[in-house]
Amino acid sequence: MSGHEQDPVTFWEERYGGEDRVWSGKVNASLAAVVAEHVGAATSGSAGPGRSLDLGCGEGGDVLWLAERGWDAAGIDISSTAVARAQEEAQARGLQARFAAEDLAEWAVRVLAAGGGAAADQFDLVTASFLQSPVHLPRTNVLRAAALSVAPGGHLVVISHGAPPVRDGQGPVVQHGPGPDHEGHAPHSFPTPESELDDLGLGAPSWEVVVAETRIRDALTGRGERVLNSDTVIVARRLT
Ligand SMILES: C[S@@+](CC[C@H](N)C(=O)[O-])C[C@H]1O[C@@H](n2cnc3c(N)ncnc32)[C@H](O)[C@@H]1O
Repeated sequence: MSGHEQDPVTFWEERYGGEDRVWSGKVNASLAAVVAEHVGAATSGSAGPGRSLDLGCGEGGDVLWLAERGWDAAGIDISSTAVARAQEEAQARGLQARFAAEDLAEWAVRVLAAGGGAAADQFDLVTASFLQSPVHLPRTNVLRAAALSVAPGGHLVVISHGAPPVRDGQGPVVQHGPGPDHEGHAPHSFPTPESELDDLGLGAPSWEVVVAETRIRDALTGRGERVLNSDTVIVARRLT
């Protein structure tokens, strides 16, 4: 069976079940940077951080980082194994974060059918870090539902692999398998800032696009090789 035909729950359960831990457990560097640069300042008033939702949260590194900074943080992932690890880590760190095992394809259908608005479940920050998959994922629908889930005045942050990692000054790294960071991902498409904005469908005057760019990030592979990652970074603010 080719990767595209494999059931997403089975694929991601096998991916997480095959190792004690797939990701580093740390926040994604690009997420931490843009939250500090653009979201933190906007939420530093008396209201402070509000509700956040992370889509495809994996083992919860980003959600737990936000919870540590005062966000009422939640995450959704298709893998119940990943979600259980995130919950265990939250408990170990004494954090109140909430996690749900759910297929975002179904979540998006529900959110799109509800059409957003005040009656819908809305968040002050909606994030999606490397929500990319070699098996079926209706990513455009999920991104549009993500935008609908942002409350007026809130932020949407989408970070994706914009290209395969490269060794400094050399060609793409040949992937040999998963490591503790974000290398080792299976093939998938690589969004550009422009394609990401098209998928999100953020129209003026409702949205201000704050960041739409490619950021190059140094990282170490699981084998200790230094590589450059290319992150496509979108930050948008829903205007009131
Ligand atoms: C490349 S990982 C990124 C994980 C995490 N955001 C991070 O940065 O460490 C992609 C994540 O998306 C999740 N995912 C893929 N398809 C999904 C779907 N249809 N519904 C929910 N989660 C999904 C996977 O289980 C996986 O945890």
